[in-house]
Amino acid sequence: METLHDIPGLRDKLAQWRAAGLRIGLVPTMGNLHAGHIALVRAALERADRVVATVFVNPLQFGPGEDLDSYPRTLDEDARRLAVAGCHLLFAPTESAMYPEGRAGHTAVEVPGLSAQLCGASRPGHFRGVTTVVAKLFNLVQPDLAVFGQKDYQQLLLIRRMAADLNMALDIVGLPTVREPDGLAMSSRNGYLSATERRRAPALFRTLQALAAAVAAGADPTQAERDAAAALRVAGLEPDYVSVRRQADLAPPEPADTELVVLAAVKLGRARLIDNLELRRPAAAAG
Ligand code: PAJ
Repeated sequence: METLHDIPGLRDKLAQWRAAGLRIGLVPTMGNLHAGHIALVRAALERADRVVATVFVNPLQFGPGEDLDSYPRTLDEDARRLAVAGCHLLFAPTESAMYPEGRAGHTAVEVPGLSAQLCGASRPGHFRGVTTVVAKLFNLVQPDLAVFGQKDYQQLLLIRRMAADLNMALDIVGLPTVREPDGLAMSSRNGYLSATERRRAPALFRTLQALAAAVAAGADPTQAERDAAAALRVAGLEPDYVSVRRQADLAPPEPADTELVVLAAVKLGRARLIDNLELRRPAAAAG
């Protein structure tokens, strides 16, 4: 597997593949790769002739006081894991390659409305940074498809919406969350947890399971959200939000809505953890 750090090198390589008629898949990441990321690479390999993974800790999506400086950077190990998985190319640009004029004043891509809710409410500007860098990566690679994880449910929805709104001609593939044996969603940020915190962390997924089960059984979503927030606190997790939303647009559910998703973000020590679970509420129970 080849690793490239500069944009002209990337464009050359991609031009060769495109001239050969090869179908190109893209897997954007911030590195510190785990089995969840590798599942995305495998899915891309099943759907494309050549797969490009990117590793770039995008400063535009970190707010002041967030973990930009401490975010784990493990490029050599990431490259090794990608090569083992069969990935064809790793693009790991420097910040100056991506933002040659600096971070400030860079053109931004923003999906209004959706980007201000849930994680966007507690991380202002975060999703503008995400959609901006993903738009750049789509333009740089011009892939036939790009693969993202449902673990970042709101992010996936925003990227789908951006691609549709801006007529980006690629397929966006969403893949289920890969979990540790105890249910904790794999995340580069799990490494921030102490041993005690790590033992508490699976309460996030367990609480979402209970919340999803309650709503599927006809519980009032608002009351069920309150119960879930209380359960998280009892488990030692500080909820940022716990929400029952519609899958399609993350709006609060109307009584007739049946395709729902429960989403939560919690603080646990230094880490901010997120997770979600889709559920179907039977039409009979709705309302
Ligand atoms: P990162 O957190 O590194 O995640 C890269 C991709 O891996 C995302 O699509 C994310 O949803 C997916 N992913 C993470 N954990 C997963 C898990 N446990 N199971 C399945 N997929 C998982 O998300 C980002 O980076 C950035 O915001 C990015 C899109 C790269 C833009 O900078």
